[in-house]
Amino acid sequence: MSPADRPPTAAHRPLTLADYATAARPRFTPAVRDFLEGGAGDERTLAANTAAFDAVHLHPRVLAGHQAPDTTTRILGRDWAAPLGIAPMAYHALAHPEGEVATARGAGAAGVPLTVSTFAGRTFEDIAAATTSPLWLQVYCFRDRGVTRALIERAERAGFEALVLTVDAPRLGRRLRDLRNGFELPGGIAPANLTGDGFDSPSAHALAEFDPALDWSVLAWLRTVSSLPILLKGVLTAQDARRATAEGAQGIVVSNHGGRQLDGAPATLTALPAVAEAVDRACPVLLDGGVRRGTDVLTALALGADAVLLGRPALHGLAVAGADGVADVLGIVRDELTDAMALTGTGTVTDAGPALVTPALVTA
Ligand code: FNR
Repeated sequence: MSPADRPPTAAHRPLTLADYATAARPRFTPAVRDFLEGGAGDERTLAANTAAFDAVHLHPRVLAGHQAPDTTTRILGRDWAAPLGIAPMAYHALAHPEGEVATARGAGAAGVPLTVSTFAGRTFEDIAAATTSPLWLQVYCFRDRGVTRALIERAERAGFEALVLTVDAPRLGRRLRDLRNGFELPGGIAPANLTGDGFDSPSAHALAEFDPALDWSVLAWLRTVSSLPILLKGVLTAQDARRATAEGAQGIVVSNHGGRQLDGAPATLTALPAVAEAVDRACPVLLDGGVRRGTDVLTALALGADAVLLGRPALHGLAVAGADGVADVLGIVRDELTDAMALTGTGTVTDAGPALVTPALVTA
């Protein structure tokens, strides 16, 4: 066991995701920390994501008579241990030398899926060998469609089960911390499933290579490449959600990229109810951004999500204790969710509805 993997001592064992964030801090250089934790512009959207959850109150319900609440969730034909997965993030090796392989092992131990970034630093084959939980591929669409096609075909061969097309990044947001730091990836960190170069500066690479003119026809093109279900990540409005389902998307991820793209975009929790209403159960609705506690998960379920994805907290777990840290982060949220379900009289995840939360937020 390398020092990076040594679990914290019992006295300092992290009990919450906030504890993990604190424990992870000293493990990053200041520039890497800024890259991981930062957002675009003035970071208003980044702050709004967590503030929206903080503003909600859940209604306790008494004498509901349930046995232990059941957190299991069925999404796209697969059972998850909890309505919880890991959001796609580039370069997990920034947090731990084993990178996405350790994250996959942690997700597998927790029985929840991992969405692997286009910019994963470990090969799809190595990641797939590390977990029996579902793996999804996050897709950035490049100007050179051949690059995107090769990426998808490789992931499909490795057993990935869905494509998550990120649609909120025709170019990268203005991440001022990274611009001020002149951020470049540390040596040795590079995408393992892409060929080419120019990856050192994520923002310059995105500007040069991402297709900025992507439109709805990309869905039809993706269907010529793969028969995997396609989820759209980065939908925040009812109009786009309606169009997405009309165009045959098999899932929506309500996301503002963790506040890293359009600063001033609403908190994902604020955007969720209108999106869920527009989708009207035509496909699963997931949410990411600012989920830090089991009560946040229950709140998102109450307001129309079928499941949530965790971003930065998974990297905090990874940085603190490798695969075990990732599994622990997921386990903490699942345990907190179980507690919150018991205290609100919620027997199963599909029982959660708007009556669980303060009406003020539902109409916000
Ligand atoms: C991301 N995110 C992201 N999204 C995506 O579609 N492809 C990617 O490669 C990345 N890379 C990435 C790197 C880092 C360091 C972060 C923090 C985020 C966005 C991610 O999928 C997700 O939307 C947010 O991170 C969710 O918010 P929280 O949980 O981090 O608040």
